[in-house]
Amino acid sequence: MPDVPSFAEARDRVLAHPGVALWSEAFRRRFETHFPALFTEFSDVYAGHPALLSELAEAVALAARSHAERSPDLQALDAARETDPDWLSSERMLGGVCYVDRYAGTLQGVEGQIPYFEELGLTYLHLMPLFRAPEENSDGGYAVSSYREVDPRLGTMADLERLSGVLRERGISLTVDFVFNHTSNEHEWAQRALAGEKAFEDYYLIFPDRTLPDQYEQTTREIFPDDHPGSFVQLPDGRWIWATFYHFQWDLNYANPAVFRAMAGEMLFLANRGVEILRMDAVAFIWKRLGTPCESLPEAHRLLRAFNALCRMGAPAMVFKSEAIVHPDEVVSYIDRAECPISYNPLVMALGWEALATRDARLLQLAFDRRQALPPGCAWVNYVRSHDDIGWTFADEEAAELGIHGGDHRRFLNRFYVGRYPGSFAEGEPFQENPRTGDCRITGTTASLAGLERDEERGIRRILLLHSIALAAAGIPLLYLGDEVGQLNDESFRERPAEAVDSRWIHRPFRPDALYAQRHDPTTVPGRLFERLRHLIALRKRTPAFGGTALHGFWTDNPHVLGFVRPDAGGVLVFANMSDEAQTLAPERFEAMGADALDLVGGGRSNLREGLTLPPLGFVWLVTD
Ligand code: GLC
Ligand code: GLC
Repeated sequence: MPDVPSFAEARDRVLAHPGVALWSEAFRRRFETHFPALFTEFSDVYAGHPALLSELAEAVALAARSHAERSPDLQALDAARETDPDWLSSERMLGGVCYVDRYAGTLQGVEGQIPYFEELGLTYLHLMPLFRAPEENSDGGYAVSSYREVDPRLGTMADLERLSGVLRERGISLTVDFVFNHTSNEHEWAQRALAGEKAFEDYYLIFPDRTLPDQYEQTTREIFPDDHPGSFVQLPDGRWIWATFYHFQWDLNYANPAVFRAMAGEMLFLANRGVEILRMDAVAFIWKRLGTPCESLPEAHRLLRAFNALCRMGAPAMVFKSEAIVHPDEVVSYIDRAECPISYNPLVMALGWEALATRDARLLQLAFDRRQALPPGCAWVNYVRSHDDIGWTFADEEAAELGIHGGDHRRFLNRFYVGRYPGSFAEGEPFQENPRTGDCRITGTTASLAGLERDEERGIRRILLLHSIALAAAGIPLLYLGDEVGQLNDESFRERPAEAVDSRWIHRPFRPDALYAQRHDPTTVPGRLFERLRHLIALRKRTPAFGGTALHGFWTDNPHVLGFVRPDAGGVLVFANMSDEAQTLAPERFEAMGADALDLVGGGRSNLREGLTLPPLGFVWLVTD
């Protein structure tokens, strides 16, 4: 058994730190509440490590210091959020995501967009990575060279802090990324490691030759095979370093407690700039063990819980959002108030597209029947697409129940969305097609994937249909800004060398000013989309049944139609017809409820004793008596 200090010993060690004399009452209380969790996780991960106690004490000292430095309004928010963990699942929540440079030029430009964010109803704004990063390719900012400096082209840290304050005053929570699995190769730690400083070499995973890398690669997955095969890249001196993503993104070595402590410092720094939601990037990859896929290992969870416990102590208002785009069983494993209370919902996202391609809602229905329940105080983030590729992360066992072969189905979906399947409506592109494994993901904006170019009417219906699901499901809906006015693929990335190598840039266009200018004109495509989406958003915000986490599937007996219920506060019954033909639901399905149903969306009434008919690619939000 490795040496593990006792709780009392660890607590004494923390309390012996000279900074303790300055602890506030509030911090002491938070420390007593959350230190047991921190100790449990930290001492398990770092059992036997000689620096365990000193790094643990130092991490708590960092939390104490940053707690003391929090601004009065953040302190007020800390207290408010501690007593109201359910704010995340309020029906009033609505997220938006954009790139600072592409959407608004600079951070000051983002401030200028606040009136539009209010028009849309945003309560949460995710600004894509905005930190100092390599000039040319930086994986869209996901290669961070300094967590404490803003990319000078976008502004300064002072601008960010100011912006977060202005957003907060207007009821919008700032979200930024915590890219904590790796740093860029230009980060100071990386540079010092390269220069041979032992303490910093230990921040990364560096191997003298291919012996261990070859062994690890027996079981790891290739994430960006277009960039480099496997999970390692070679350094100029011939050694090999772990790089899961691009060759310039070097994975941090969390087996070293100094790395945890250093990254905790960066996390708390961001919290004090006014960040309210921290998007925990690539959570699955942070812990490695030989002979495993090196994804979603138990230590990855323990480290997240340790970060979380420190955050509860030092910056309680800030919450974690998990970015785990993995098997659905693993996705939920991160969702917990002690770990990440909110998480992307990649399964519902991917299966929405799957159902549009197949015109078959059954796999999506299974996800709603079985995979939406979350622990109290937690919430899904429901989205139609993100800045990343779409991978078909459904569970093969579940597909098999419907007679669907997972591998074949993924191949079909890839061909369908890149327009290689006869009759496909979509205009997507392949991403990281791997000839060796047959793996591939797809890219494209919502409008292009939904076929807006080929068929305006159906394209609009598909875009609204997928958004109607994200807006009615349990959790926080998240819009990719630009999608609400039907922005198409941007082919211009092919002319920019650093982007041409990564087809995700096709769906990260610049703010479409011309489309936004038409958004109130009902004779235009942007107008037809925007006004209807705004109507759905307004309905969601004033319908308490859309708040909270309660949701259960409603089997419609028609394979084309998804059904689910939001049972709280009077209840809403949601149906979505994924096919291009009108579909009917039989009266027997409604026997247990009142006859009269009002569709919140269209305002029409139906007599359910006669069943229900949905138009092609149509949806309803029904209230029955
Ligand atoms: C996350 C980001 C993605 C990035 C990767 C590496 O998955 O969403 O854009 O490439 O992490 O940081
Ligand atoms: C992989 C990762 C995911 C990341 C994506 C970026 O799918 O699992 O975390 O977003 O690659 O392309």
